[in-house]
Amino acid sequence: MCGIVGYVGDEPAGPIVHGGLENLDYRGYDSAGMALLGDDGLTITKREGEVSNLGVPAVAGATCGIGHTRWSTHGPPTDTNAHPHTGMSDDIAVVHNGIIENYAELRATLVADGHEFTSETDTEVVPHLLERELADGRDLRAALESAVAKLEGSYAIAAVCTGSDRIVATRHESPLVVGHGDGAAFLASDVTAFVEHTRDVTYLEDGDTVVLADGDATVYRDGEVVDRPIDTVEWDAAAAEKGGYDHYMLKEIHEQPTALRQALSGRIDLERGTADLDLTFPAGFLDSLDEIQFVACGTSFYAAHYAAHLTESFADVRATAELASEYTVDGGGDPRRTLTVAVTQSGETADTLGALRRANGTGIRTLAVTNTLGSTVTRDADDSLFIRAGPEIGVAATKTFASQVTTMALLSVFVAQERNALSAADARDVLTDLRGLPGAVQQVLDDAGDVREAATAFVDASAYFFVSRAHGYPVALEGALKLKEIAYDHAEGFAAGELKHGPLALVTEDTPILAVLTEGTRPEETLNNVAEAQTRGAPAIGIVDGSVETNSLDTAFSVPSLGPVTPLVANVYFQLFAYAIANQQGRSIDKPRNLAKSVTVE
Ligand code: F6R
Repeated sequence: MCGIVGYVGDEPAGPIVHGGLENLDYRGYDSAGMALLGDDGLTITKREGEVSNLGVPAVAGATCGIGHTRWSTHGPPTDTNAHPHTGMSDDIAVVHNGIIENYAELRATLVADGHEFTSETDTEVVPHLLERELADGRDLRAALESAVAKLEGSYAIAAVCTGSDRIVATRHESPLVVGHGDGAAFLASDVTAFVEHTRDVTYLEDGDTVVLADGDATVYRDGEVVDRPIDTVEWDAAAAEKGGYDHYMLKEIHEQPTALRQALSGRIDLERGTADLDLTFPAGFLDSLDEIQFVACGTSFYAAHYAAHLTESFADVRATAELASEYTVDGGGDPRRTLTVAVTQSGETADTLGALRRANGTGIRTLAVTNTLGSTVTRDADDSLFIRAGPEIGVAATKTFASQVTTMALLSVFVAQERNALSAADARDVLTDLRGLPGAVQQVLDDAGDVREAATAFVDASAYFFVSRAHGYPVALEGALKLKEIAYDHAEGFAAGELKHGPLALVTEDTPILAVLTEGTRPEETLNNVAEAQTRGAPAIGIVDGSVETNSLDTAFSVPSLGPVTPLVANVYFQLFAYAIANQQGRSIDKPRNLAKSVTVE
């Protein structure tokens, strides 16, 4: 997730673009940059770090410019990898949000044609392609339309070139919105960027191209001018920062379909039945593994727990999840036949880094699964795999959990195929389920109102118990953790079979039971355990997918069946439930008491 800003009008563009970038820094803060068209042509300023590091470049006569704030996906956060990017000359500048899946092939073709690249980004192919199109005599709009026809993946792209004060932009599966000001036109990934200047906006559709010139915006579709409606945004600036949601956490819950699309983008080849991850292990290493140890803390530990289940079931290898703070690298395993996977969205959690270093110390090969390119974990581990969730601001992890599980589900298929443990047909089934995740999560989000209503009945409960089995068990643990963190209420997750071995003593009519009863959770058995709690008066809420008869539940929420990843979809109901309870209690949802987003002490 990155942020794009553009401005064309009568005012100096530098401060307006800079202000827009500051408003978008929640979309990424690895680096920032601007391209301003002034009296002396194009001036590009870009720098690693937050927007505040960039300053406002003084460019005489610049009333047109584009800017970018970056969340790294290809290439670490450096000045060189910062946007805007140029081609062979500095006459063109491009900013991009999204992932260009076929950039490696395009880059190879361009290099063969004599183009020289300076960055490690996927984006840099775009200005080079544009340069080629412009050299063929096309104007900037036609050149962009022709260039993006060669791209696979998701993108919102804005480009400027010397010679005319105009911005040309287009989108495919990445957001882009136009703002209509008084003698000024704005462009951004999100209205937050310019809501202080105008509330009149046009949301572009996939495949639209827009030209911002002379303070006006014209939208084109297939080469023809089209009318797109102008909406008026009602939010104030503070709400706009959160995309109109009351809290970052709620916004991030709703960003999950996008985050999941990004996690999967370019990593699935359904035809071949393969997960294509940019990971290279020594020849025969994965095949000869005895054990994979996932280490993590908190929510990341529950994601790791889920991943261990998936890995064991697909890849025919022992897989364990261990709390990083308890990890001692024991068990007598052969370090040459062990892989330790450190799972940490921030990449900076001290307990996880400590565990990783202990593994490194024994000669075990290590892999980082993280959301943060360039973080400490990526430097300490032998290899890294990025979950691509985009920045998460709410202290309680939501979208990063979904992206962690999804990315590690891909990893488990990748390992399985290297070990010949999963047939192409079975792999295809899993990959198809993974492909279904963004849509299924969206379906749950569309039900958010019903969850809010249901939660009202339980807001005064004395405790909340979450139960499930197998792939649903880590989701039960995660559901309880969310409620503890943001509502400050007593909540526990249990393996459903364990209820009767002790926790049942806690169950009363004031302790709702929340159960995942879908594929991948042995729902018949779990339903029996839920019934044991209901007999003691506990109300039962179930997340169901029709794989078992659930008439006995007091409340049921449905999810589509997606095989082993169905519980991940069920988790979205738990997130919404925890949010609704905490919100009704007026809690400090984005910054719960006593907690920090990144825990850098052991
Ligand atoms: C819970 C939460 C924490 C983190 C944990 C590890 O909502 O956010 O439990 O999951 O502190 O953080 P990372 O993933 O950054 O290592």
